[in-house]
This record gives sequence, structure tokens and C-alpha cells, in this order.
Amino acid sequence: MSNTTENSSPALSNLLSEARSFPPSEEFAAQANATAALAREADERGEEFWADQARKMLSWHTPFTQTLDWSRAPVARWFADGTLNAAYNALDRHVKAGRGKRVAIHFEGEPGDTRTVTYDDLLTEVSRAANALQALGVQTGDRVIIYLPMLVESVVAMLACARIGAPHSVVFGGFSAEALRSRIEDAGARVIITADGGYRRGAPFALKPAVDEAIATLNPDNHPGISHVLVVQRTGQEVEWHDERDLWWHEAMESADIRHEPTFVEAEHPLFILYTSGTTGRPKGILHTTGGYLTQAAFTHWAVFDLKAETDVYWCTADIGWITGHSYVVYGPLINGATQVIYEGTPDTPHRGRWWEIVQKYKVSILYTAPTAIRTYMKWGEEVPDQFDLTSLRLLGSVGEPINPEAWMWYRRVIGGGSTPVVDTWWQTETGAIMISPLPGVTAAKPGSAQSPLPGIAVDVVDDDANSVPAGGGGYLVVSKPWPAMLRGIWGDLDRFKETYWSRFKNIYFAGDGAKRDDDGDIWLLGRVDDVMNVSGHRLSTTEIESSLVAHDAVAEAAVVGAADETTGQAVVAFVILRGEFAAAAQDDEGAAAIQEQLRTHVARQIGPIAKPRRILIVPELPKTRSGKIMRRLLRDVAENRTVGDATTLADSSVMALIKGKLG
Ligand code: WT7
Repeated sequence: MSNTTENSSPALSNLLSEARSFPPSEEFAAQANATAALAREADERGEEFWADQARKMLSWHTPFTQTLDWSRAPVARWFADGTLNAAYNALDRHVKAGRGKRVAIHFEGEPGDTRTVTYDDLLTEVSRAANALQALGVQTGDRVIIYLPMLVESVVAMLACARIGAPHSVVFGGFSAEALRSRIEDAGARVIITADGGYRRGAPFALKPAVDEAIATLNPDNHPGISHVLVVQRTGQEVEWHDERDLWWHEAMESADIRHEPTFVEAEHPLFILYTSGTTGRPKGILHTTGGYLTQAAFTHWAVFDLKAETDVYWCTADIGWITGHSYVVYGPLINGATQVIYEGTPDTPHRGRWWEIVQKYKVSILYTAPTAIRTYMKWGEEVPDQFDLTSLRLLGSVGEPINPEAWMWYRRVIGGGSTPVVDTWWQTETGAIMISPLPGVTAAKPGSAQSPLPGIAVDVVDDDANSVPAGGGGYLVVSKPWPAMLRGIWGDLDRFKETYWSRFKNIYFAGDGAKRDDDGDIWLLGRVDDVMNVSGHRLSTTEIESSLVAHDAVAEAAVVGAADETTGQAVVAFVILRGEFAAAAQDDEGAAAIQEQLRTHVARQIGPIAKPRRILIVPELPKTRSGKIMRRLLRDVAENRTVGDATTLADSSVMALIKGKLG
């Protein structure tokens, strides 16, 4: 298990000495959705527990009779002979049951504009958009790219695709034209929904130019071309227009009928593809299907967040460009008939109390966010949230990376008034929905631990030979039984799916995370064991950033590591060897600074601003093993200002001294 220890951040190494524990209050426990009996029921019912949830959480057009078909493992089929529609479940069902006047979305734009959207309104908009898409020739099974800021239209676009059975692939608005191009090609999408731009940090930013550039650079050998681009007008900024393919969203919507018959699809019909970083440079298109995914998204949203749809106001701060936005902004909450807040912008615009002002304004009762945001607020000081009335909050959630016990304690004390349960939820783009989390009305929560698998989920911590580790031991996190929201593959690449997740251990899912079990058997996540970084809860591949750097003329070789960072969890640090003339130019500080800045901008352009290296260190050599593998562990020591660890397996043992000497 040396690998896990090497990769885990030092801040986490003392996690197991954490002894605090916070049982739910009696009042909370008495009213909680998920009880100890539910967990027992799951144990007794096995797979059928999920069939029960699928019937309870969803409306089926054709009821299913089969629960799980694992005969084509590792591609699972859940509820395969049933048919349903995701948008019908999120909208029509509530309207038919008389819940149409309930607010679905309180939208808060960054500049201060607001919109209140009921379930009735949302159904009308989604129906219109579905008609508009069909009028453009989009058919069931066609992939549609969505590249939007956080707007009501983003939710409408996703549900409109789902309504006609056209899998959506949302590309985060912070990604570059190049990242967009590769996803359009990989998904084979012919229609894109975007906006002129959005608001961020007090100013409009543009999206449409990236779409134009991505389309212009499509490789005609790989892609037949984009037929239509629907453009939401958000900022009113100037856009370049291509009459033959571009249409304004509001014009297409105006002329579309407000009634639309949903297309009922088989449970295993693809609902969406979402690209995520892996250990190699090429992003993976994670494929999710309909019935199983929706079942687990809705069930977990109900059980983990203890949702009371009539009274709660729920707010998940994630962008729809990530899986959290799919499962816990769009599908889970809307299927459960929740009232939620969507906020377009950044936490510090126009002031650092913006989030807490929103909580106060809408009386948010359930808040779900990421440790990086909590740490940022800790840094800004508790006097900021203290200025607002946060007493409406009754449950807090965390996701995206391990949460340090101190951040957990601060979250509960300062934001939760010292009494709310805090649920640390572990899951992945691939798992589709929450897998490990305390149950807020049952579990005595330990700061920093995701604790136990949810009812119906089987996870384990194993050693190199797939044996369960005993209490107190550490190893790899695996999922040992199929689960309803599990990915059904990597788009267009079954072999890569098998290789990535199912080859490390036989018949069990390898998550890529290290974990420990404490003496009570509770699970503590320790970070990735592969070359994947986690920056502010966003997954980034070291290889992808290295490839981008090497693609620049100045760079001969590059190695990227995630260095521990107090606020963002990890920060991207790149070590580069420059080519001849550039190396000469970088001899003096000014020349070096210019090249470093050029490279940072280059990565931001190629992948997106979130991938921009925090630091670029120009070095004469990189530490490699005899087989040529870069020893990132040693570079991480340098990046984190530690004494460099064991370097005996290096091909050339003097390299580290050379690097340290160069960096001073
Ligand atoms: C990776 C998945 C799940 C939505 C957001 C990220 C890390 C996620 C936790 C947590 C410790 C966590 C893991 C995982 N991670 N949640 N509660 N505790 N680590 O989704 O981009 O697919 O990343 O995020 O390393 O493998 P993602």
C-alpha cells in the first residue's frame, strides 16, 4: 500500500486520530427520512431493495419486471424491460399531482436579477424547448452538446433533451474551445446549445466565440459538422453570427408549441454523457442511462439530504457542468419535487457574503457544497457569515474531496449554528450518485469521514490482492456489487471501460481512491492513488496538462503534480524542461517569468482556466525511473517544500540535487 500513502496529502495523515463524534439530535432523528430500519431493509432485500426504490421514486410508463441483469458484466442492466421518461418524472408528474404552483427554481443572477420558476413554468419551457429541438431535426438517440452558464435555461436544455431521448453532453462553461471541440467530436454531436455569455466576478464573459472556434477546428475526417447552434441571450454582448446554423434560443422558443408528448424510452436508454479526466490525456465520456441512474439520484437526494419537498429550500452550489450539477441540481431534486436555489456567479461578487445573503433571502434549509468553498470562507473569516441570518439551515452537505476535520467543524459551527448534521458524501462522475455518506438522522458523524456505504451499496477497502483490510487498515476503495446509477461504459470505448475500472481487481469496481477503515469500521477517504489531481473539487489529469505543455514550442518535457494547498486541496505545479533557445532566454529572471506566464496562458487556453498551473518551475532534468516513468512523488516533495524522499529507484540519482540546486 505504499502507493496510497505516497499519494495522500500530509494534511490527511493524522485523520485517524480524530475522536470527535456528533450524533443527530433527537428532534432530527425523529423526523428523518432515512432510519436504521431502512438500512436493515436494504440488507434483507438485496437487489430488490433497489426495485422497491425504483417503484417508489419514479413513475414508469411500462413497469419493469426484471431488476438486475449482470450477465454482460461489467455493463449492468437495471430494470431493463421498463420504460420511462426523465423529464416526465421531473415535471409532468408533479403538475398532474397538483404540485404545479410549487416553486421549482429560485434563480439568482450574479448582477442581482432574479426569476422564480414554478413546476408549471418549467414544464411549459421544457415542452417548448423539446419541440424546438425536434423542429431542428434532433431525434431520439442523437447527442446534443450543452455549453452554458448556470441559468434556468441550462436546466431547461437538459430536460428538453431528456424529454425526446436525446442524450445531452454538458461541457462546463469554463472549458476552452479546444476541450469543447474534442468533446463534440467524441460524442458525435450535431447540435449545440450555448449562450452569448454569462456573468462572473462582476463582468460579462463570452461563450459563443469558443463555440465558433470549436466548430471551425472540427476535423472533417472525424465529424460531419454542426448543423445548428441555439444561442441563449444572457448578456446582450456582440456575437458573430452564422445565419446558416445559428438561432436565438428565445426566437426558437417563441414559435414552439407549449405542449409536448415525452418520448418514453427503455430504462437502459442513454440519458447523458459527461466527460471527465482520467489517468491518460484523453477525457473519458462517462455514459449514464435512465432508469437506474434516476432511481439512485432521487433516492440518495431524499435519504442523504432528508428532503421534505413541501417545506425545504435546497441549494446545491455545483455547476451543471459537473456530475454534482446533473444529479443534485437537475435530476435528484426535480424528481423529488424540491424547491431549489440556482446562483449564477461567484461567492465574492459583489461582496464576500453573497452566498449567506442568498441563504438568508430564500431561507435555504439544505446546503450542499465543496470543501474548497468552505476553506475559502474560513480564510475570509466568520465575521462574514455572521452578518446574516442562517438559522433556516438544518442540514449541510460536502462533496468533491476529503474534508479536513477542521473545515468540517467550522462548517457545522459557523454555518450550521453548531447543531445541523453535516454529511460528507463520497461518489464520482462514474458512480452517478452518492455511494458513501452518513445518514443524517442515524449516524453519529465523525468530522472528516464519509463513514458508511448507503443502504443498498456495497463498498470495501482492499489490499493489493483484493482482500478486505481489517479495522485500522488502509488500501484501495472498491465497489463490490453493481449499483443502479453505475456508469454503463465509456462512450465508444468498451475496452477502455474494462481496462480502467475492472482490470485492477476481478469483478469489482476500482474507484481510484485510497481509503482507510478505523476501529469502528468507518471509511476515511485519502485521495487518489492514480495520476488524477483534485483542484477545488475539480478533477484534472496530470497527463492532460503535461500533453498541453509539451505541445508548446518552448517545452521539451513536462511533469505535472498536484501539490497540497490549504484552500484548493491541491494546486497544479508543473516542472518543465525548455528547448534550446527558450532555455537561453529563461536564463535571467525576467525571461523566465515571461515564459512561465506564456505557458500558464497556453494551458488555460488549451484546457481551461481551472487547469492553469499555479506554479511553473523551469528545471534542467526530470526524475525518472530506469523504465522512464517520471517519479512525481519526488517532484511533489519539491513542490510542497519537503525533504525529498527515497530517490534510490531513480535512473540517475543526482537529478534531484540538480533540480533542487536550480530552484534554490
Ligand atoms: C473523485 C471524483 C462526486 C462529485 C464531485 C467529484 C473525490 C469526491 C469525495 C469525498 C473524499 C471525494 C474522489 C473521487 N471525492 N467526493 N466526499 N471525500 N474524496 O466528482 O470529478 O468524478 O471526482 O473526487 O477522489 O474519486 P469527480
